[in-house]
Order: sequence, then structure tokens, then C-alpha cells
Amino acid sequence: MREIMIDTNEPYRVLIGGGLLRDAGALIQSLERKPGAVAVITDSHVGPLYAERMEESLKDFRHYVYTVDAGEENKTPETLIAILRSMAQHEITRADLVVALGGGVVGDMAGFASAVYQRGMRFIQCPTTLLSAVDASVGGKTAVDLPEGKNLIGAFHQPAMVLCDTDTFQTLDPARIADGAAEIVKHAAIADEKLFDVMAAQDWQSDIDAIVARNVEIKRSFVLQDEHDLGQRQMLNFGHTIGHAVEAWSRFRLSHGQAVAVGMVMETRAARRLGMTELAEDALIGILEAKGLPTAVDATAEDILEFATRDKKRQSGAVTVVVPDRIGHARLERLDMGRFRQYVEAGLP
Ligand code: GLY
Repeated sequence: MREIMIDTNEPYRVLIGGGLLRDAGALIQSLERKPGAVAVITDSHVGPLYAERMEESLKDFRHYVYTVDAGEENKTPETLIAILRSMAQHEITRADLVVALGGGVVGDMAGFASAVYQRGMRFIQCPTTLLSAVDASVGGKTAVDLPEGKNLIGAFHQPAMVLCDTDTFQTLDPARIADGAAEIVKHAAIADEKLFDVMAAQDWQSDIDAIVARNVEIKRSFVLQDEHDLGQRQMLNFGHTIGHAVEAWSRFRLSHGQAVAVGMVMETRAARRLGMTELAEDALIGILEAKGLPTAVDATAEDILEFATRDKKRQSGAVTVVVPDRIGHARLERLDMGRFRQYVEAGLP
């Protein structure tokens, strides 16, 4: 098992290894303040696979499992209220614990429920997808969507622990593994050239625990500099400024990882064509295509601008973009809306 400390205001451990779900109960017992009861929030994909394993491990706690319908389209205020009401009905108190068992959608919603229930309580993240293991489970972003946009209601609320049982990745189909690979390539592109080389190899999944651990370290370095996402943490948005717009334009036909793959290529091409970087997008295209990810879509500049300018990443008439200087290093630049239009146009194939 690997262990990484995240030294935010209230430090927490990220544990990574096969079989960890079976140890969840013992690890919860090891928390400084033991909860009296545990609310396990999962979804209709993950629950049938892993809830029983979790419940077995929690047998010494009063606990219950609440299952939401799987899918980003259910990451809504209505589902949040249903989770909160289940907690009230099971007499969960602020001294108890929420366990988020699932991917990023479950983690976002269960984390947000724990941030607001009785003005805030602890939760632990148990990511069961490669994507949430390397990204959303660490760093404390929690949210639900509104019809007007993604993640518009949320809170920064760090988990009390992250338990990443890498055995759960065995039930992911190749497209979901590729979604995780897109975020790993993003981390590599902005912060770690060696990781980029590892990802270029055919057998990149051979030591998945090490890959997850390296990604958690990279994410930690940005979160610790800027927990509330007002500065350096925005570097993690590489591929997301255009990627989120492409995801929304596709009406979520493209998964998050697929949209981020397209976004990274377009953002690199845009920066190169506008003379902001000398890095060519070819290396990114090669590595992403080898993972089965798309690298272009037939959206127009107008399509992308329509969705990108709605995104909450826009601030005071300007958009902050991530410019990769070379593989393993990037910087932030603020573009006014006129320049951002040129950037989006330059990003098209
Ligand atoms: N997913 C990017 C962040 O947590 O800031």
C-alpha cells in the first residue's frame, strides 16, 4: 500500500492499493475521532459491485447504503436533497461520517452533502474509477450541477481520508480507463515529463498503484499552493477551458476524459499558432490516440465560444488559459474576450 499525506489545514491521508475496501472499517476506526454511524453513498453502477464489500467491512458501525442513479445527468440539486434527506431519516449527525463510494459524480455529490449537512461533517472518498482516483477524489472540490452549467453549486471541503482500492479498476471498461488516462496525460504535460514517457509506453498500466500515487503527488503540489483555485491550481485546467465547452456542445455524448483530450490538443494548437508556445501538439495527439481518445471534433469556433463563455472559468471579461511551454511545464495567461476568440479559432484543426 502507498500512502500520501495532503497537508491542507486539516491534513489527510491518501491510501492507494489493491484490496483497500475490505480494510475501510479498520481504517475508519483509526481516525482521530471515531464516527458513531456511517452513511455510504454510491450509485447504481458501483453499488451492485462493491457496496456489499464495503458493508462487510463496516459491520462494527451503524451504517446504511444510499444508492443514486449513475450518471452526470443525475448530479443535481434534487439528488443532493434526496441524499441529505436519507441522512436525516437515518439520524446521521455531524459527528458521523459520509463515505463516497464511486467515481467523480458520487464523490462530488456525497462530498457536497457532507459539506452542508448540519453545517458540515467529515467524509471519506473511495474512488472506484481511475479518473476520480487521479483527480476529483483529492483536493476537496465538491459540487452539483444546475441546468445553467456544471458544478455551479458547491464547496471546497477536503475529505478526512481517501481510500483508493485499485482492484476496483478491474471492472472498468477500456473507455473508462482511457478517461483516466486523459487526466494523467494532463498532469504529465503540465508537470512531469517522465510521467509523459511512462504514459507513452504500451504497458503503462503495469504498475497502476505507482501511476495513481504520482498523480496524487502532482495534484497535491497544485492544491497546496492554492486550495481555493484562484491561482496556480488553475494549471489543472489544461484542456478543460475548451474541453468543458466541447463536452457541453456534444451534450455529454463525449465523456469528460474524451473532451479533455480534445481540449488539450486544441489549446496547445491555439497557443502555438498565436505564438504563445513553441510546443507542437503532435506528441499529445500521438499519446492520446494510442489510448483510444479523440483529438478533434467538428464543432465550430462559434459553438465552442458559446459554451466556453458560459463557463465559470471566465472572470471579469477575461479567460485564464493554460499554456504548455514544453512537455512537463506550463504557465497561465489571461486573455481578454477578443484574444480568446482568436485563441479558439486558432485551436480548430
Ligand atoms: N480538477 C481540477 C482541480 O481539482 O482543481
